Order: sequence, then C-alpha cells, then structure tokens
Amino acid sequence: MRAKESTKTGVWLIGARGGLATTLLAGVKLIGKKLVSSCGLLTETPGLQGVAFPALSDLVFGGHDIRKGRVYETAVEIYRETGTIPYDKLEVVKDELAEIDDDIALGTARNCGPAIERLGVPKARNLRGTLQDDVDRLGADMRAFQKRHKLGTVIVVNLASTEPPAGTGPAAKDPALFRKALLTRAAASSNGRVRGQAFRASTLYAAAAAASGFPFVNFTPSSGALPPALQAIFGESGLPFMGNDGKTGETLVKSAIAPMFKYRNLTVLAWQGYNILGDRDGLVLSDASNRQSKIDSKDSVLASILGYKPHTKVGIDYVPSLHDLKTAWDFVHFQGFLDYKMALQFIWQGCDAILAAPLVLDLVRFAALALRKEEKGPMRHLACFFKDPVGVAEQDLHGQFHQLLAYVERARGNQRSKA
Ligand SMILES: NC(=O)c1ccc[n+]([C@@H]2O[C@H](COP(=O)([O-])OP(=O)(O)OC[C@H]3O[C@@H](n4cnc5c(N)ncnc54)[C@H](O)[C@@H]3O)[C@@H](O)[C@H]2O)c1
Repeated sequence: MRAKESTKTGVWLIGARGGLATTLLAGVKLIGKKLVSSCGLLTETPGLQGVAFPALSDLVFGGHDIRKGRVYETAVEIYRETGTIPYDKLEVVKDELAEIDDDIALGTARNCGPAIERLGVPKARNLRGTLQDDVDRLGADMRAFQKRHKLGTVIVVNLASTEPPAGTGPAAKDPALFRKALLTRAAASSNGRVRGQAFRASTLYAAAAAASGFPFVNFTPSSGALPPALQAIFGESGLPFMGNDGKTGETLVKSAIAPMFKYRNLTVLAWQGYNILGDRDGLVLSDASNRQSKIDSKDSVLASILGYKPHTKVGIDYVPSLHDLKTAWDFVHFQGFLDYKMALQFIWQGCDAILAAPLVLDLVRFAALALRKEEKGPMRHLACFFKDPVGVAEQDLHGQFHQLLAYVERARGNQRSKA
C-alpha cells in the first residue's frame, strides 16, 4: 500500500465540497501560482524550514462528500458570501479546481443524524449489507485514487459536518469487538446501528483509512471518528493519526490567555463564551445533538489549564447572515489580591475557513512526515492544532507549541545524522 518511491502525496478530504475544504483547495492552488502568500501556514515559517515535509505542489487532492456540486462553484459562492477567495484569481485556477471534481466520490451519511442527512442531495450511497461492506467501498475509493495518481501515500482528513456524539459501548473500546460489530448486517436498520452500538459515518471513513494503510486526521469534533478501538487499530497497523477538532477561534484564544491567570495566581471565577456563526457548519450545529459534540470539545480546555473548574458556559447560535464570519464574545470574571473582582472581555471575529485551511495543510504535511519516519499512534506533538488533542493532557497553547518545536528539532537532527 505504501509505494514510497513516489514524491506525490494524496490528500483525501471527507467533506471535500464543504466551505473549509474548498477554501483549502483554492488556497493551495493560488499559493502554487504565487498569487497569494502562504500566510497562516506554520510549515512555511523560517522556524520549520529544513524539515522533510512534502512540497505543497506535490499534494494531490480528492475526497468523499454526500452532496453533489463543483469545487469551483462552491468557491465562487464563498467569494459572493464572504469575499475571502478573490474572484479574479479564482479564474486563473478554475481548470485545476475542475480536475479535483473527478476525484470526489459519493460518501456515506450512515447514522449521522437528521441535521446532516438533510444536506445529502442526492441521497448518499447507503448500501445494504454490513458496515464492513461500507468500509470496504470507502477504502476502495481511497486506494483507487492512490493508484490513479501513483501516490506514495494518502493522508485522510475528516472535514465533514459535525455528527452527534458517538456511542461509547464495548465495541467502541475493544478492537476485536469493533471488527466483529462491523460484520453485523446493518441492512435492517439503515442507520448503521448494530446491537446497541452506533457507528457513525466518521467511524467508517476512519476504519477505511486504517484498513488501507493511510494516516488519519480528525479535524472535526465528531467523536465517532476516533473511538479507542480505532485508535488501537491505527497503532496496531503502524499508522499515525491525530484529532480532535481544529483549534482555530475562541478556544485558540482561550488556550493562549488562560495560562496568564495561572502565571499571576489570579483566580478565574467564571468564563462565559458565546459564539454566533452562519453557513452550513452553523446550520448543522443549530441541531442540539450535533452542537453538543462541539461544546464538549470546547469546554474541556479551561479546567485542564487552570487546575480547577471555574463556572463556564459555551453557547453557540446560528445566525445565517454571518456566513463563515464567526463572532465569539468571551467574558472572564476573575479575582485578585484582596479578593477583588475584575473582568476581561474579548471579541473574536474570524473567518472560520481562513483560520482553519492552513492548519489542515500543516497537519497533512506533519502526518506525511510521521508516516515516513515510521511513527505510529497519536501524533501528540500536534496537540497545539486541536481543541481536544488525543492522548495529551496539556491544554496550554504555549506548552503545546514548545512540544511541537521540540519534535521539529528532533526531526531535523535525525535528518542531519542520516545525511
Ligand atoms: N475553523 C473551522 O472552520 C473549523 C474549526 C474546527 C473544526 N471545524 C470542523 O470542520 C468541519 C467542516 O467545516 P465547514 O465549515 O467546512 O462545514 P461545511 O458544512 O461547509 O462542510 C462540511 C461538508 O461535509 C459534507 N458532509 C457532511 N456529512 C458527510 C459525510 N458523512 N460524508 C462526507 N461528507 C459529508 C457536507 O456535505 C459538506 O460539504 C465541521 O465539522 C467543523 O465543525 C471547522
């Protein structure tokens, strides 16, 4: 599966027609033509030079989605709604974006809940048969892509809509039970429920990546993508993986600012966060069960940094007119000397996809590097990219960033000693 001779690396995006994926695809093509800078990409900064990341020009893109459409048309739609992708420049890469459409296959919306199923136009392929049949079909799409483009490997990245929280029963924990549950016929219930277990679409995509010998990155808060059983399977298969939920907005600011209170022995009494966002992501998150996945991953940060749990609340509301321009207002109530109470407030106004797209490219390059170095299991050094990093208790952005730099230093050292 790992034809290492090729210099080309495949990037298989689950949710390839979404706002984030489209921004990433347009961005990477525009960077390639030197029409925009590589601002936002950590792997392009001087501190990370000299590491054997794949070149951006050597990345080849494809993916799954449950909606039809064309990448270029979505990019034009994004230009109209937010103006983030420059229209005149988009015209220059129109043909390159059109080529990617041929490598986007129809995915599965199995057990994703009604908020996501409503997006599926036309009805996504939900085969009768076992869940393993689904995994085989999804994996075959990924491997055919690798073969078609003669790719050294394929990095699979989940950028699909946020699913409701996944089940945590025995099959989600034990690799043997997990494999057995996949073989249960799911035809009777089209939603993929087997013996009380719910395997969501993200679980099937990740299982397909593992079975195909491909690293996997879960950029979404969907807990179905990396249940402990699958984490173990990635490890057993000698594959690196990482998640969950890209850290791009309110939580990024939180994990940078919260340590300050610790450094000055100021007690945080309350941290209230209120987020408003539009677009499809916001629409899906307006469903209470899908929203809960996001709140769970956002809310875990503070207690871990501070060492105690202040009163917290994270609210997320859908405001259609905002499109991808997300606004977060945070109110931090804290106490200092003489127990005097003070407050910090901030407003974060960021374009979600603009913040997230370069991170995804960085993660792809780090995952390709890890595979090349024959690393397996969670890529803990990438914790600074995630709200809820797998296998990492450290939530302080500064600490996480130092871990990344230490990894980079080691990678550079190994390269030098091999040279
Ligand atoms: N700053 C950010 O943009 C950011 C940060 C962290 C996490 N995320 C997460 O990334 C994901 C994508 O965000 P977005 O703004 O691009 O959302 P989006 O709604 O624009 O795109 C999601 C895409 O996934 C597709 N999809 C849904 N279910 C699918 C399935 N089962 N199989 C294949 N495709 C499926 C949809 O059709 C859509 O094209 C979301 O889960 C979001 O929470 C985004």
